[in-house]
Amino acid sequence: MFFQPKETSNYILNPDNIPSHIAIIMDGNGRWAKKRALPRKAGHKAGAEALERIITDCRELGVKHLTVYAFSTENWKRSQEEVDAIMDLLRQYLKNYFKRFLKDDVRMDVIGDITRLDQDIQEQILEIEELSREKHGLAVHIALNYGGRDELRRAVKKLAEDVEQGAVKSEEITEDTIASYLDTAEIPDPELVIRTSGEERISNFLLWQIAYSEFYFTDTLWPDFNKNSLTEAIYYYQNRERRFGGR
Ligand code: FPP
Repeated sequence: MFFQPKETSNYILNPDNIPSHIAIIMDGNGRWAKKRALPRKAGHKAGAEALERIITDCRELGVKHLTVYAFSTENWKRSQEEVDAIMDLLRQYLKNYFKRFLKDDVRMDVIGDITRLDQDIQEQILEIEELSREKHGLAVHIALNYGGRDELRRAVKKLAEDVEQGAVKSEEITEDTIASYLDTAEIPDPELVIRTSGEERISNFLLWQIAYSEFYFTDTLWPDFNKNSLTEAIYYYQNRERRFGGR
């Protein structure tokens, strides 16, 4: 069965081939604000609102996992004012807006090293993860203080400790063993990675997990990314032939 998305989309999606995991690099908040002569933090606020809408859209389209790059290990290099603004936004969303999704069976968790975040934010994260435990709908994974290399470093460190203690035999390490030490141990690899704002880089996002992902780049700035944009990205994905290295 084919359906026409509600909005003015020209793209007709095959509902039987919706990617089960979409990962998004939400880029372009700063440029969105600059175009409007607004401070960068206004761009991040608009970006957070876009995220809220896209979570709803993913639920409606039947996506099972959505991973979003909200704050990278490199983002600490931004001005203290901008870091504080993003952290304040995160506080607000963890306290208020994100919790609203739980009633729609949406689950939320965080990937990344949260130990560098303020204590109150860490507590909010643990609370929302706990509240999510009984939910079985769309899983939203928020990457915070996340870097693909840092994730691999932490995984290797833990695996080396387990080898040292005899819990794992080095000759028995498989790709699945490594995957099980990553922050994404319980999460299938993304079929589709989207990056907004015209940049075509992976910027240390999910380095291990994207081995066979399709990539979709769009010039749309993240705050302007809407259901129609998402539909277009999925349409692109549905028209790719995935070979996984075979012929
Ligand atoms: C990239 O745009 C965006 C970020 C580094 C932050 C992403 C954050 C959000 C979308 C809001 C976070 C929301 C929550 C709830 C945590 P940029 O600032 O690099 O844009 P630019 O490249 O145009 O300057």
